[in-house]
Amino acid sequence: MSVLEVVELVKHFGPVRAVDGVSLHIDKGEVLGLVGESGSGKTTLGRCVTRLVPVTSGQVWVNGNDIAHLSRRRLRPLRRDFNIVFQDPSSSLDPRMRVGDIIAEPLRLHRIGDRSTRRARVAELLGQVGLQAEMARWYPHELSGGQRQRVSVARALSAAPSLLVADEPTSALDVSVQASVLNLIGRLQAELGFACLFVTHDLAAVEFLAQRVAVMYLGVLVEVATRDELFAGPRHPYTQALLSAAPLPDPVAQRSRQRIVLSGEVPSPVDPPPGCRFHPRCPVAIDRCAVEVPALRPVGPSGALTACHLVADDGSAPRLAA
Ligand SMILES: Nc1ncnc2c1ncn2[C@@H]1O[C@H](COP(=O)(O)OP(=O)(O)OP(=O)(O)O)[C@@H](O)[C@H]1O
Ligand code: SF4
Ligand SMILES: [Mg+2]
Repeated sequence: MSVLEVVELVKHFGPVRAVDGVSLHIDKGEVLGLVGESGSGKTTLGRCVTRLVPVTSGQVWVNGNDIAHLSRRRLRPLRRDFNIVFQDPSSSLDPRMRVGDIIAEPLRLHRIGDRSTRRARVAELLGQVGLQAEMARWYPHELSGGQRQRVSVARALSAAPSLLVADEPTSALDVSVQASVLNLIGRLQAELGFACLFVTHDLAAVEFLAQRVAVMYLGVLVEVATRDELFAGPRHPYTQALLSAAPLPDPVAQRSRQRIVLSGEVPSPVDPPPGCRFHPRCPVAIDRCAVEVPALRPVGPSGALTACHLVADDGSAPRLAA
C-alpha cells in the first residue's frame, strides 16, 4: 500500500489555481522528487499534503486515511504520520525555544513518552542528525544555518512519521553546507525508511535522492517516471527543456550539450492557457495542443506517465535537441 496517495488534488487561492488536479502516490520507503519552475505549485502541493493549508477538492490518503477534509480534531492524532521540513530554518524554528524543546515538540503534542524518555529521544535524534547532545540547551540563534536545518530535520522525524515532505530543504543554506544536509536526509531516509516527497529545483539533488520524479508545470503534472528513465530520456517537451538547462558535472559534456531555451515566462495560474498548459512555450506544439488537454497517461513499457499529445503510447517522443 502507498504511504501517500493524492487523488485529483485541487488548491485554489481565490482566482489563483496553484494546484489544479494532481494525482500521485509514494510507496513505503520511496523518495519522489517533485520538480518544476518557480510558481508551478510545488510548495502548495506539499502544504496540502501536510494539511498546512485547507484543500479545495480532491483526496490526500496517508496510510489509508483521507486527511484532505478532516476536522482539526480528527486530524490531530493522524499528524504523527507525516511532517515537513521547510526551506528556511531561520524562519521555521521558534527563536524563543531551546533546541531540545523544538525537537521534542511533536512528542509532547502526541503525548509520546514521559519527560525522561523524551529527553533521551532528543539526545538520540541530535546524534542522528550529527549534532552534539548538549546542543539541546542551545537556542536556534546560537547555531549555524546548516545546524538549524539539522534541528528542523530532527524535529520533523522525532515522532517517527512514515511520510516526510521536504520543501527545498537546502536551498536557503550556504552552498558549502548544502551537500552535507542533503547527504544527511539521504542517509536518514535509507536508515529509517520513511517515504519522502522531496521538492527541489536542484536536479542533481533529485538524481541523488529520488527513486522516482514528478515534473510539475503550472499546477499540473506533465511527467512522472523513475529517476533512471527520466534522466536517460525525458519524454515531455517541458521535461526535456528543464533537463537541458541543468548544469552537467562533466564540463566536456556541458559544452557539447544543446540547451533548449523556452520562450516567455510561465503564464499566470489565474488564467492558465487552454488545452496543454505548456503550448504557448512548447517548441513542437501543434494546433490540437491549444484546444485539447493532454491526459497524464501511461506510455512505454515501464508505466511512466506523460501528458503530451505527441508522445506515442509506445513511449516514443519528439526530440527537441540532438
Ligand atoms: N497564500 C497564497 N495566496 C495566493 N497565492 C498563492 C499563495 N501561495 C501560493 N500562491 C500562488 O500559487 C502559485 C504556486 O505557488 P507555489 O509557491 O506553490 O509554487 P512553487 O512551485 O513552490 O514555486 P517556487 O519554486 O518558487 O517555490 C504561485 O502563482 C503563487 O503565487
Ligand atoms: S501536448 Fe502539445 S504543447 Fe503540450 S507538450 Fe505536447 S506537443 Fe507541446
Ligand atoms: Mg516553493
